[in-house]
Amino acid sequence: MSGARPPVYSTAGALIERAVVPRIDSGLSHSPTRYWQIVTTLWRVLDHEPVPDFGAYQAAGGGAGLEAATRLGPAATINEVDAAGLRGRGGAGFPTGRKWRTVAQNRSPALPSTVVVNASEGEPGSFKDRTLMRRNPYRLIEGALIAAHAVGANGVIFATKASFHIELHRLQSALDECRKGWDKDRAAGGARDIEFFVVEGPSEYLYGEETALLEVVDGRAPFPRIAPPYRHGVDDVGEDPVSGARVAMSGPGGDSAAPPTLVNNVETLASVPGILASGADWYRSLGTEASPGTVVCTVSGATRRHGVGEFPMGTPLGEVIEALGGGPAQGRVTAVLSGAAHPLIPGTQLDVPISYEAMEEIGSGLGAAGFIVFDESSDLAAAVAGVSRFLAVESCGQCTPCKEDGLALADLLDRVCRSEEATEHDLEEIADHWQTVADESRCYLATQHQRVVGSLLSLFPDAMRAHLEGAPAVEPMLIAPIVDIRGGRARLDERHRAKQPDWSFDETYSGQSPADRLDQRLAVAIEEGEAEAATSS
Ligand SMILES: Cc1cc2nc3c(=O)[nH]c(=O)nc-3n(C[C@H](O)[C@H](O)[C@H](O)COP(=O)(O)O)c2cc1C
Ligand code: SF4
Repeated sequence: MSGARPPVYSTAGALIERAVVPRIDSGLSHSPTRYWQIVTTLWRVLDHEPVPDFGAYQAAGGGAGLEAATRLGPAATINEVDAAGLRGRGGAGFPTGRKWRTVAQNRSPALPSTVVVNASEGEPGSFKDRTLMRRNPYRLIEGALIAAHAVGANGVIFATKASFHIELHRLQSALDECRKGWDKDRAAGGARDIEFFVVEGPSEYLYGEETALLEVVDGRAPFPRIAPPYRHGVDDVGEDPVSGARVAMSGPGGDSAAPPTLVNNVETLASVPGILASGADWYRSLGTEASPGTVVCTVSGATRRHGVGEFPMGTPLGEVIEALGGGPAQGRVTAVLSGAAHPLIPGTQLDVPISYEAMEEIGSGLGAAGFIVFDESSDLAAAVAGVSRFLAVESCGQCTPCKEDGLALADLLDRVCRSEEATEHDLEEIADHWQTVADESRCYLATQHQRVVGSLLSLFPDAMRAHLEGAPAVEPMLIAPIVDIRGGRARLDERHRAKQPDWSFDETYSGQSPADRLDQRLAVAIEEGEAEAATSS
């Protein structure tokens, strides 16, 4: 870092909050003067430097949030989170306090609830949860313990990916330290009986969808369920090793005595200790009325560098791109995507504040605040063809239009970009499949597909038409999760180029969706079961 200003906001306990030159995972130096003029980056949630161990976390005041929660008790803890107006950072922005209250109110008389930490970050363009876990897993663990204490859970499951080696290592050793440290600490009595588990899940994008996440926690494939997970969660859909994804869960007041499960994103939980230690008013001293606090953003794509940083909600998008990305690589910013989840934001709207309400107002969404930037050298048709391929491949196929129309859209967009023989008919077919891709969809992935492709059709129709009128053939862009950010460059998951729509890496596509393959496994399991029963009788 090339310099830092003294604190400008009051500090409380461990919750150091300073205005700093954006600290980016870039390793590059940049002019402090310029950045101070442009934007203030914070470290309320994202620590400036990696916290080396539990002792260092405690020495800096870590644990003050858990102590406050223990003192307040569950109901007042939930009230504080509610008053702070914290909204879930996994993408949907659901009010965290309301979610906690629902889980607490629906506790099972027979069994304790569980908190599941969604640490499976797979949104293209987003690297904030992984950065948070690398820098300071203790803050996340403290937030999860506060959540468990508040909703009456006796276990916390950290659901992350087997491929996240650095994060897994940090998390495992931090959990070992916290077990010892907080067990001994009488002030943290609320955390004493809570057990930790780590689930090392698959790389599939859908694993991040919370009902699919619960499926994986229960030992099955990442296939979204029908019902909201907080009604009933872990272990509530039967013993079948294969077909849990197909079981509709019981409704409120249903006959199951199974407890609800709370699922929260990493950044959401890492925001909680500060709220408890310093109070809801402190939290609301930054951000907007409807989106209080700060948000950890990632910038990648056609910018001079890539990085992760924390900003007050309400900061203009252009300032975030300037501070983390150093501006567009070539010419001006033409468009921005928030992950593979929301419509393109035209480069003329960079003054939009990053908040849930403002991003929605312009017809897009904040999502996980992972901004993929396009400049004058970017082909937006190729960018959307890349998103389309990513979503079509990652679709599980439980809903036929999502998989079939999704793959048709990806193929057509691919053809328009690559071939010099694309015709008006291809554009008409794109419009047809676009209309039906989200029909009867069980989860949000199909709607994401519809919204991103729809934004290309409505906001940038010339980008596709140019390919019908002689624009050079281009390959669809690789749109895939970020696997690391080093030297100011994001490295994408290159393996995704070879991933087939059946989720295999075979040379050719089997023609079967992942759901078809699941059916096949189910049929084999039934056959084997019948054969076994016949033999034993
Ligand atoms: C296709 C899809 C992928 C998702 N991926 C993630 C993810 O990687 N991490 C995450 O926290 N939430 C992800 N979500 C959102 C979760 O379903 C869920 O809303 C979130 O974990 C809830 O936590 P929060 O209330 O703290 O945001 C995804 C949603 C969808 C539809
Ligand atoms: S909408 Fe798509 S990804 Fe979601 S459950 Fe249906 S087929 Fe699977």
